[in-house]
Amino acid sequence: MKKIYALNASPRKGWNCDQILDCFIQGVKETSGEIEIEKVQLYDLDYKGCRSCFACQLKKTEQGHCLFRDGATDLIRGIKSGDGLVFAAPVYYFDVPSQMRAILERLFYPGDADHEIPVTAIYTMNQPEEVANRVFKKHLDDIAFFFRQEFKTDPEQLYVYNTLHWRHPERYNFPMEWYEEKLKVHEAQFPADQNAAYQAGIRFAQKIVSRL
Ligand SMILES: Cc1cc2nc3c(=O)[nH]c(=O)nc-3n(C[C@H](O)[C@H](O)[C@H](O)COP(=O)(O)O)c2cc1C
Repeated sequence: MKKIYALNASPRKGWNCDQILDCFIQGVKETSGEIEIEKVQLYDLDYKGCRSCFACQLKKTEQGHCLFRDGATDLIRGIKSGDGLVFAAPVYYFDVPSQMRAILERLFYPGDADHEIPVTAIYTMNQPEEVANRVFKKHLDDIAFFFRQEFKTDPEQLYVYNTLHWRHPERYNFPMEWYEEKLKVHEAQFPADQNAAYQAGIRFAQKIVSRL
């Protein structure tokens, strides 16, 4: 049996990232019964980012692992010794949210994983593709760079644009026309994004199973 971790890096359960992640997971499940999937809601855990303690770099300690003990320790160890990682993160201010960044710091800093760990990175964002390409996709590419370096893997990246902020627009401080336009685009586009995540889940499972 192989083990993969699926992280929802949004604080909102059941929203864009969570839904897209579930489509990916469905693709994995329907492709192979040989893959155990641990889905983790990052915002249910209590942890911080790298403390720069350098314990992971000491000659006398176990290499390749963050040794700091808090609510993310087991998850980080599990990912590093596991067979695959997928995460769905909302874009916050052109980058991933702080909870995801904290996990990445602690995954990357101890150095090389001792085996290739396939990764799929899913990013959901409210802005359209044109803005993402022009303004901030380079930040997300930097994350892929570190996965190549530390996980020896070329991550597949999926981008979900024009997501919905909320329902019940009458409760919020935005013009109704803005919401209606977003809703129209979202309803046309989101099902295709869900299908793309499902297909990515199938590819991911095939990659993992081919190594059994
Ligand atoms: C604090 C904050 C910052 C955000 N910054 C951006 C941004 O820079 N670019 C963007 O396209 N969307 C931004 N968004 C919108 C979210 O990325 C988008 O709604 C995302 O799909 C939310 O995912 P969720 O529904 O799973 O929580 C931001 C949202 C919040 C709450």
